[in-house]
Amino acid sequence: MQAEYRQRREALMSKIGNGTAIFRSAPMAVMHNDVEYAYRQDSDFLYLTGLNEAEAVAVLAPHHEEHKFILFVQPKDITKEVWSGYVTGVDAAKSIYGADEAYPINELNEKLPQYLSNADRIYYRFGRDKSFNQTVLNHYQRLLRVYPKRGIGPTAIQDTCTILHSMRMVKTESELALMRKAADIAVEAHNLAFEIAKPGVYEYEIQAEMERIFRKHGALGPAYPSIVASGANSCILHYIENNRQMQDGDLLLIDAGCSYDYYNSDITRTFPVGGKFTEEQKILYELVLSAQKQAIAQVKPGNAYNLIHDTALRVLVEGMVELGILKGEVDKLIEEEKYKPYYMHRTGHWLGLDVHDVGVYQHGDNPLILQPGQVLTVEPGIYIVPGAKPAEEQPQVDQKWMGIGIRIEDDVLVTQEGCEVLTKGVDKELQDMER
Ligand code: GLY
Ligand code: MN
Ligand code: MN
Repeated sequence: MQAEYRQRREALMSKIGNGTAIFRSAPMAVMHNDVEYAYRQDSDFLYLTGLNEAEAVAVLAPHHEEHKFILFVQPKDITKEVWSGYVTGVDAAKSIYGADEAYPINELNEKLPQYLSNADRIYYRFGRDKSFNQTVLNHYQRLLRVYPKRGIGPTAIQDTCTILHSMRMVKTESELALMRKAADIAVEAHNLAFEIAKPGVYEYEIQAEMERIFRKHGALGPAYPSIVASGANSCILHYIENNRQMQDGDLLLIDAGCSYDYYNSDITRTFPVGGKFTEEQKILYELVLSAQKQAIAQVKPGNAYNLIHDTALRVLVEGMVELGILKGEVDKLIEEEKYKPYYMHRTGHWLGLDVHDVGVYQHGDNPLILQPGQVLTVEPGIYIVPGAKPAEEQPQVDQKWMGIGIRIEDDVLVTQEGCEVLTKGVDKELQDMER
């Protein structure tokens, strides 16, 4: 794996010429008072180094004579480590992580200038760590002040995202192996949830069993707070309380995935808790399923990314018109976004080290064209939210649809021929959702 991190750094360096790129580790996140969440590295930092440690800075300086890859890390200190765990330390930053040079993080201000002073620009993504943003600015301004005298040095700070995030959008074989594993574990968890969900069971019991499966297989845990939403809770997109007792007649919408070696899966299934759909649930389920399948059929190299959403949206709007939930001409309803009270999100997102992974979805007015190696979710839904106001000039929704929330979400890899649904191991056909 170290070889792959090196390849990524080299690929990035080949694109930044005489620039120097700086990457900051993610900050620790506070749970409460002096208790912190388990540490999770910034995804760009992880992608380039594999180092999952706070208080670190990675520098790439392709133009530097001796050191192209420099790490600043926490130094070994057993009196500290005995409290908060072992750290890599300066020596192993070189021997394990392949840095050409490594320093203790407290020497950053002293050692960084030598890697910046002859660069023509600094590549840095301003982040949430304001004090580190300021550190980078201070170095930049100091070099700008002496620029007239030296005639060399950085004269711009450029965001790394256009280069690095287009790399991250296309997954390598080893990344795909981790994504398949994350998908397989989440598939097993969803299949278990389908078996154990029944009237009388609490949503959190399902959550607990699914997250047990995640950890049992070595996943770090949920990729995001698991959504186990029964009855009208299924209409709340980010419902995470998961504390309701499920009733016969409810639908259960489960949106849960795991993080395996930092790569994520993201699956949603919706099924009747009591084993049988009501007539209305069945009709809307079939509509969402049809939208999802037709959208997935558009996932192939050469197609525009937006075609996936546009396809799903058209199926949903046509269906809602047929059912009398919307009234009017389909094109106009889409153009005027009259469907938004019942379908308020997009049909998917890139998936990878981040659940909502990096990468653009279009280039200004030009479409983003799909290419092999990209992984995305396809997740249309319909939510007849109790109390939701119809769009202007649209009918009140018949009471019989109220409180039905349905989403179906799969993780899809763009292949040479078309696509592969990584999460196909969880049933979604209508007849398989009933028991
Ligand atoms: N669970 C987050 C999402 O589906 O985007
Ligand atoms: Mn998703
Ligand atoms: Mn999801």
